Amino acid sequence: MADRGRDVNILVLGSGGREHALAWAIKQNPKCDRLIAAPGNAGIAAIAECAVLNAQDGAAVVGFCEENAVDFVVIGPEAPLAAGVGDALRAAGIACFGPSAAAAQLEASKAFTKEICDAAKAPTAGYAHFTDLTAARAYVQAQGLPLVIKADGLAAGKGVIIPETMEQALAALEDMFGGAFGAAGAEVVIEEFMEGEEASFFVLVDGETCLPIGTAQDHKRVGEGDTGPNTGGMGAYSPAPVLTDAIARQALEQIIRPTMAEMARRGMPYQGVLYAGLMIKDGQARLVEYNVRFGDPECQVLMMRLGAQALDLMLACAEGRLDSTRVNWADDHTVTVVMAARGYPGAYEKGSRITGLEALPEDSFNMVFHAGTKAGDGAVLANGGRVLNVTARGDTLAEAAERAYAMVDRIDWPGGFCRRDIGWRAL
Ligand code: AMP
Ligand code: GLY
Repeated sequence: MADRGRDVNILVLGSGGREHALAWAIKQNPKCDRLIAAPGNAGIAAIAECAVLNAQDGAAVVGFCEENAVDFVVIGPEAPLAAGVGDALRAAGIACFGPSAAAAQLEASKAFTKEICDAAKAPTAGYAHFTDLTAARAYVQAQGLPLVIKADGLAAGKGVIIPETMEQALAALEDMFGGAFGAAGAEVVIEEFMEGEEASFFVLVDGETCLPIGTAQDHKRVGEGDTGPNTGGMGAYSPAPVLTDAIARQALEQIIRPTMAEMARRGMPYQGVLYAGLMIKDGQARLVEYNVRFGDPECQVLMMRLGAQALDLMLACAEGRLDSTRVNWADDHTVTVVMAARGYPGAYEKGSRITGLEALPEDSFNMVFHAGTKAGDGAVLANGGRVLNVTARGDTLAEAAERAYAMVDRIDWPGGFCRRDIGWRAL
């Protein structure tokens, strides 16, 4: 189905700012005919039909696609991928963007990824893998700090501890083996602590060909100057200046291509976007982790730079045509500022009113993506921790940041807050 003028009915699975950005980019492409999101959110509802559907139930997603003549499914979050929704769709002959459950182990199991990296000789942190507390304790005490302790499975971003004291390290092990992370903590990976600057590298993979589609950096800590507790991400920008062309080439040649070849060799070729978290020091990148989906909010800054071509790229990826596909780059910069409910990442209230959004520009330079919102009361209501992603594009990072904060200042939401320094490392 590679014809240019075709009409494609598309289903996007997910409900965050990432999925709003995906839907926004897809919608601009004339190939997009009907656009449905499940479950979607108040922002997505302005540009797509929103459907009620259990996104983790492969049979339900296939049934929905058959009833609604959906030709192409874009899977946003990791949970449906790990649950095998991509496998169910492909088995039913429905094109889909996102890896199989087997390949999604690159995010769903840290031990699996470390083993693949060993086999592929990809540079990453040294590690040891444990299934019982006594052996893990003895190892940590013998090694000493710094170390990084990771629950093996999906733990919603909370399964990684970088202990500051030996007491914290031992307590983390007890928590993990004691079931604090459920099945995700039944196995624990203990890694060498890597120093350096982190950046994210996004590469489309169609089983064989690897096509880089951009770099980004995010701000994980809630407080200005990158202080305070970790969050899902308080903002991001693209490109990441620390990830130079030379380092990107090194990461492709030494990390990404060898691990993708190893996956194919094991009969689980990877198809979808591969999000490589890299640690950069002295001009060299090492792998911190793989994710099997776009980052949130990194997707927002990538989609704003790619625009309508994002759909062509995802279709080419799903159809195994990346070897003949190019990315059209503009020499531009994007920033997204996350507005969160007061209290986040701790306890926060839902339901506060947000006004002023309707007066903001919506174009290829300015866009507010909705993360946790719902419509109610004739207004937009906060419905989550991270609520809005105020996103802007410019010729420079400074110009993009200025545009984004000009929009932030026009949003009236007493129940929300944001960091005022997104992009500071690169500015
Ligand atoms: P992960 O979920 O594996 O990405 O880990 C979450 C965060 O912990 C990463 O984004 C890094 O900031 C940090 N981290 C993880 N592994 C290491 C490591 N081996 N050395 C230093 N920092 C790490
Ligand atoms: N922003 C980090 C992530 O999506 O994993």
